[in-house]
Amino acid sequence: MSKEALVEVKNLKTYFYTEEGVVKAVDGVDFEIYPGETLGVVGESGCGKSVTSLSIMRLVESPPGRIEAGEINFGGRDLTKIPEKEMRKIRGNDISMIFQEPMTSLNPVYTVGDQIMEAIILHKKVDKKEARRQAIDMLQKVGIPLPEQRVDEYPHQLS
Ligand SMILES: Nc1ncnc2c1ncn2[C@@H]1O[C@H](COP(=O)(O)OP(=O)(O)OP(=O)(O)O)[C@@H](O)[C@H]1O
Ligand SMILES: [Mg+2]
Repeated sequence: MSKEALVEVKNLKTYFYTEEGVVKAVDGVDFEIYPGETLGVVGESGCGKSVTSLSIMRLVESPPGRIEAGEINFGGRDLTKIPEKEMRKIRGNDISMIFQEPMTSLNPVYTVGDQIMEAIILHKKVDKKEARRQAIDMLQKVGIPLPEQRVDEYPHQLS
């Protein structure tokens, strides 16, 4: 490949140290994602899809979990090695995660727009008006019809 990979996961190992022993949830995973690509990971329940994603986000609960080995190369850096402060700038800004069961992970009392704006305002120096404009823009980019209307609706109003 001539183009540089956006994310390169090499020999990723994430283990959980439990009383019953070591759970090798992710044990030597390799993949690369190039700009414009979408990667779908399919596998039986418990095979390590979520733990792989959580490792990239550096959100594996520790203890009991730990990224044991491997590299997660992103933007010229290995995300397994950078300080938490640096990771916080990337998380929610360059790399985000939509957790399973979005109906429970989104806050039901805040509008869709408020929840998108929260991440924009946290990371960028923009006012509410500009954040709202960017939120509408994002809804449009992912093909949500009537984004100007949707932005003011609550999670339960979207299927
Ligand atoms: N906090 C934890 N402590 C111990 N083991 C854990 C912990 N979190 C995850 N695991 C184990 O890691 C393995 C991978 O789990 P993971 O949640 O990544 O599976 P999954 O592929 O996302 O499954 P599903 O399709 O059900 O979402 C499982 O065996 C799970 O029991
Ligand atoms: Mg999962």
